[in-house]
Amino acid sequence: MPSITVHTAPAYDIHIGAGLLPSTGERLRKLFPKAVSAAVVTDDIVHGLYAPALLDSLRAAGFKTAEYVFPNGEESKNHERLLEIYGFLSANAVTRSDVIVALGGGVAGDLAGYAAATWLRGVPYVQIPTTFLAAVDSSVGGKTAVNIPTGKNLVGAFWQPRLVVCDTDTLATLPHDIFCDGVAESIKYGVLFDETLFDLLADGRAKERLDEIIRRCVDYKRQVVEEDERDTGRRQLLNFGHTLGHAIERETHFAISHGKAVGIGMVELTERTERLGISASGTAERIASALRSYDMQTHYEGRIRDLIPAMRGDKKRHGGELSFVVAQCVGLSRLHPVKVDALEDFLCGKGD
Ligand code: NAD
Ligand code: GLY
Repeated sequence: MPSITVHTAPAYDIHIGAGLLPSTGERLRKLFPKAVSAAVVTDDIVHGLYAPALLDSLRAAGFKTAEYVFPNGEESKNHERLLEIYGFLSANAVTRSDVIVALGGGVAGDLAGYAAATWLRGVPYVQIPTTFLAAVDSSVGGKTAVNIPTGKNLVGAFWQPRLVVCDTDTLATLPHDIFCDGVAESIKYGVLFDETLFDLLADGRAKERLDEIIRRCVDYKRQVVEEDERDTGRRQLLNFGHTLGHAIERETHFAISHGKAVGIGMVELTERTERLGISASGTAERIASALRSYDMQTHYEGRIRDLIPAMRGDKKRHGGELSFVVAQCVGLSRLHPVKVDALEDFLCGKGD
């Protein structure tokens, strides 16, 4: 199965397919012929499901292995866990010639990735995504981060992985609810770039086309990252739905998870950009209908107006402006700067 190569410096491959986990050790050995240790960072649920196969494969390839296991969930993406990881890396004498392996969803990837970016001023790491969201988005592109009390992902680094191994068999154990987070991020790619990709998702049957959907999303992400690794231009498009989404996550204390919050953010924003004549009429309803086909929530239950204070601190703010990503129609998008002082006018009509 051909891999996708991301041409950053250094370039790295993304392998996508069934049954890849048992050969991960071999793949890592080719990439890191002199490494002694592979330090695996994962959460407690994924550990029970997939660490045994990964660890066997790493040991068979001659790696000394060590594991750091954290409680699953967004609450673990913080400095306390990060400090524990540094302690774990120190105790296991992980050096720049070794490798950190992030096994799990976006939380494991972001946390382990940021530890890798900062430990000894940067050690190599590998992403093994086990959620649909991590497969289509977070495992690729090198954005790593932890949250702080004032906001999500506010402390982080750009640090590209050296390899991504996406074993699609691992997605079979995802509860529907968590699968849906990846659906929302995949719908995002469809709305941003590709109506035919959107249509693959819009009938509620993504599970039947997982391989194709992951490949197509990852290939869009590859293009965007190659063009704008540091998120100063085109990559910002990937934040569609995220300004509202992050505020919703924060206001609900993460009861609404990342992907689902992004889904709601895309619909709520597009309803407003339709009213402003920026989006073609019917665009918001197409996005909402795709989300509904997976029984996903499409609207925020609180008032959008109450999310504005959280949005003011968004990391996509540049001086007095916030860059919103707007869908002109399904398959076409652009950036739309809004003055922070004008957020209320932009987002709030009567009843908002
Ligand atoms: P997550 O990592 O918390 O995983 C969700 C849940 O699924 C967890 O409870 C986990 O234990 C469980 N799980 C993981 N794999 C499983 C499997 N195969 N079977 C059964 N259960 C499994 O959440 P997520 O949705 O993967 O990622 C969300 C995070 O990703 C957020 O913190 C978000 O900010 C971040 N993110 C980062 C980027 C990026 O570019 N770095 C992009 C998008 C999202
Ligand atoms: N998920 C947004 C990005 O990687 O830029």
